[in-house]
Amino acid sequence: MKLLIFISLLAVFCDAALRHDRFPDDFLFGTATASYQIEGGWNADDKGENIWDRMTHTRPEVIKDRSNGDDAADTYNNYKRDVEMMRELGLDAYRFSLSWSRILPNGLANKVSEAGVAFYNNYINEMLAYNITPMVTLYHWDLPQKLQDLGGFASPYFPEWFENYAKVVFTQFGDRVKYWITFNEPREICYQGYGYVEKAPILNITDVGTYYCAKNLVLGHARAYHVYNDLFKPTQGGECGITISVNWMGPLTDSEEDLYAAEIKRQADWGIFAEPIFSEQGGFPKEFSEIVAKKSAEQGYPSSRLPAFTEEEREYVRGASDFFGVNHYTANLISANEYKGNWPVPSMYADVDVGTYVPPEWVPAASSWLKLAPNSIFNALTHLHNRYNGPVFYITENGWSQLLEEGYEDDSRIAYYRAALNSVLDCLHAGVDLRGYMAWSLMDNFEWMQGYTERFGLYEVDFTSPQKTRTPRKSAFVYKHIISTRAIDPDYEPDTRTMWIDEGH
Ligand SMILES: *[C@@H]1O[C@H](CO)[C@@H](O)[C@H](O)[C@H]1NC(C)=O
Repeated sequence: MKLLIFISLLAVFCDAALRHDRFPDDFLFGTATASYQIEGGWNADDKGENIWDRMTHTRPEVIKDRSNGDDAADTYNNYKRDVEMMRELGLDAYRFSLSWSRILPNGLANKVSEAGVAFYNNYINEMLAYNITPMVTLYHWDLPQKLQDLGGFASPYFPEWFENYAKVVFTQFGDRVKYWITFNEPREICYQGYGYVEKAPILNITDVGTYYCAKNLVLGHARAYHVYNDLFKPTQGGECGITISVNWMGPLTDSEEDLYAAEIKRQADWGIFAEPIFSEQGGFPKEFSEIVAKKSAEQGYPSSRLPAFTEEEREYVRGASDFFGVNHYTANLISANEYKGNWPVPSMYADVDVGTYVPPEWVPAASSWLKLAPNSIFNALTHLHNRYNGPVFYITENGWSQLLEEGYEDDSRIAYYRAALNSVLDCLHAGVDLRGYMAWSLMDNFEWMQGYTERFGLYEVDFTSPQKTRTPRKSAFVYKHIISTRAIDPDYEPDTRTMWIDEGH
């Protein structure tokens, strides 16, 4: 009798726990991709050259396997198969990006490509036919080469170029697209592309590259946001935000020094982009700005290498976003004195001047920078929630890489997704206004400097086959189950021999 009561009590508790641990019905589950990584068709129709075309064609040695995105997964011709995969997974939403030089072959807005617009119309309409909500990024790293030749993000004309491009995009697609993301990952654009050599255009202008880019990027974002808000939102009714990469940066120890070091690291890595838009006071982060100003003076620069906003610019940018898109993958522990890298002086990370540490017990992915760090989504999002007064969030990327040889039984990816989505549930319980989650990535793709050597896909892509055949990995079945049940069942073991089409979606 006692045992029976105990069992029924247990059942009640488990039931309550399960219900509590479900994702809301209107939570947007999706996957994400980027134009250059999947589209191919690099010179199809009248598409213009972009900075990844130029770099991979002229400097193939900078890509690990000397490959490029000329064909990639050939989504340009296979877009219907992509949408079929979205249906197989039962996605609510799909995040993808537009190739600027496919829409504006000239970079500038004097000529709109009919073929480019038709391609994206077809892609979008195919999704909508199956109730899949498009979430569209305007810029995911493929700047028209001509604009790069004119200085790219370092040019003071950049905000104007971006505003004009955005206007074309909102005009062409805004009747059907209700989620807009201006930029994907400002830090990677500015630091890796302008301040270092980890992304096109690999300028390695270490002293000011990152900072000039940062200011113009933030201004360009604000111009696109205001244009949407003033001219399009009243009739189209969508939302416009920005996606910033926020890996968690916590202190290595509880010492005051390490706490401060972690704060400075956060201010540099994402604060220079988030603070001007999401903070109450606006402008670049205070302590980091002071550090750069002081060092710049000591180094003989006539003004701070991090150019301040004018009062007018600060007001224009402050609050210019409907949501905060977060790309999150991993975490680092920050030390004031230990584990420091050998940064060139001057450079952003010489300005930051802290060490980063990763505990050996955090399980590694195929990518050197990616480890399974416990609770890192919860740590990152609750921090942003508190710092920026509870904005609306979407996780716009989160995922795990493996080597091709690891095959379809991608148990390490499944473990990562389950841990990540448990951390998402913790955020929801804590009152974070998190409304969606986009897994990176729908399918294997061109992983930038790593070429095709690192695979992030729920679907494997056979890049050697003419059709770029896509085949679901085990993680695809697990993600589908999570989406359809709105819950994480740690014991679910899919039968991966079963292929599916969910006609009902
Ligand atoms: C980048 O610039 C720094 C500082 O000028 C230099 O030390 C470093 O060798 C450069 N790196 C590459 C890969 O060119």
